[in-house]
Amino acid sequence: MKHVFKKGKDLKGTTLLLLHGTGGSERDLLPLADAIDPEANILSVLGNINENGMARFFKRLSEGVFDLEDLKFRTAELYAFLNESAREYGFDRSKVVAVGYSNGANIAGSLLFHYQDALAGAILHHPMVPIRELELPDMTGLPVFIGAGTNDPICPSEESSELNTLLSGAGAEVLLHWEDYGHQLTAPEVKAAADWYAESFSHNTSN
Ligand code: MLT
Repeated sequence: MKHVFKKGKDLKGTTLLLLHGTGGSERDLLPLADAIDPEANILSVLGNINENGMARFFKRLSEGVFDLEDLKFRTAELYAFLNESAREYGFDRSKVVAVGYSNGANIAGSLLFHYQDALAGAILHHPMVPIRELELPDMTGLPVFIGAGTNDPICPSEESSELNTLLSGAGAEVLLHWEDYGHQLTAPEVKAAADWYAESFSHNTSN
């Protein structure tokens, strides 16, 4: 998959997996990594789907209606890419924390839903429930931040709450953070995610 890799302070420390929103690129979320953990390694990936010129991580049938076959296929593809990248670049595969926005948050959620060891944690900005009626892996203690909008027209607030319930039900430690700015990713939400990350992953720093 097309991507950017940037070695941080220590290959043994956290690697942030950056996953852009629909129409974004592998460069979009690089400033977020700086705000969250300037010392982390960065693996920022471009989605393989081209929807009328807009990059995405999986196909959809219409707005908010996912092509579930493709979602599963693309989730497996990203999972395999993570494993290959860890071998190629030498980062610790067990310390990958996803940071996704919108469509990127949805594929990150799908990684969590399908694989027990895919991620060490996740920051999901404006995610939806990626797939339903799936038996979820044991996520005991897995730190997950959900940034949601009370008035998000694309990811309705009920769906953010449903995702919280599903992840928490599987054992994840979820912080559901609300903003009132629709689907936008705003500076206060990024700050809340960064504060949550500092608390959740302080043990992971290489200092
Ligand atoms: C999706 O298709 O993943 C969601 O509707 C969010 C988006 O439009 O990217």
